[in-house]
Amino acid sequence: MNNNIKAFIEAAKNIKTVGTVTFSSKFLVDKMIEAVDFNNAKFIVELGAGNGCITKGILEKMRPDAQLLSFEINEEFCNMIREFGDDRLVLVNESAENLEQWLDKLGVEQVDAVVCALPLVWLPDDLNERVLRMIKKRLKKGGVFTQLSYKSNTKNKFKHLFEDIDTRFTLFNLPPAYVFVSEQK
Ligand SMILES: C[S@@+](CC[C@H](N)C(=O)[O-])C[C@H]1O[C@@H](n2cnc3c(N)ncnc32)[C@H](O)[C@@H]1O
Repeated sequence: MNNNIKAFIEAAKNIKTVGTVTFSSKFLVDKMIEAVDFNNAKFIVELGAGNGCITKGILEKMRPDAQLLSFEINEEFCNMIREFGDDRLVLVNESAENLEQWLDKLGVEQVDAVVCALPLVWLPDDLNERVLRMIKKRLKKGGVFTQLSYKSNTKNKFKHLFEDIDTRFTLFNLPPAYVFVSEQK
C-alpha cells in the first residue's frame, strides 16, 4: 500500500491524537519553516512529525552538520519517516513530553528552533502546558517557535508563555491553516 493511503488510514484510526486526516501541503510546510534561520541553525526540534511532510521540508533546508530531533508517538508514521534514511535525523517514537529528557541525553542545552504540529486543541491541557514550558525553557534567545493549527484561537493555549506571536495563514491547505510564530526574547 502506498504511504499516502497508509497515512490517511492511520490518521483516521487515531483521530484524537492526530487531529486531522490530511497532512500539511507544501505551502503549509513552507510557512511552518520560513522563520527558521537555516544558515545558522545547528539543532532543530520537531514535535508531532506525522507522515514526515514537515520533517522532509526541514531536512531539505538544514545544514549538513545540523541535527533534527523529531517526536512522533505513532509507530506507523515513524516507520514512514525512517525510510528517509537521513543521518541528521534523530526520530523518537515517544511523546513530546520527553523532550527535555532527550535534549539532556544528547547533551543539548538550547535549541535554535522548535517546529510544533501537535494538535493542541485535541490534547489534554496539562500535557500541552508541560510541553510548551519545556519549549520555552530550551529555546535559545533569537530562536523561533512555530505552531500549526486550524483554529485562530489556538494561540490562547500558549500566549501566556510566548511573546509577540505573529499569526500567519494559508488557504493552500486542506483545511486552511494558521501558523503562529514567536521569536524567543
Ligand atoms: C496534526 S498532525 C501533524 C502531522 C504532520 N506534521 C503535518 O504537518 O501534517 C499531529 C501529529 O502529532 C502526533 N502526536 C500527537 N500527540 C503527540 C505527542 N504527545 N507526542 C508526539 N507526537 C504526538 C500525532 O500522532 C500526529 O502525527
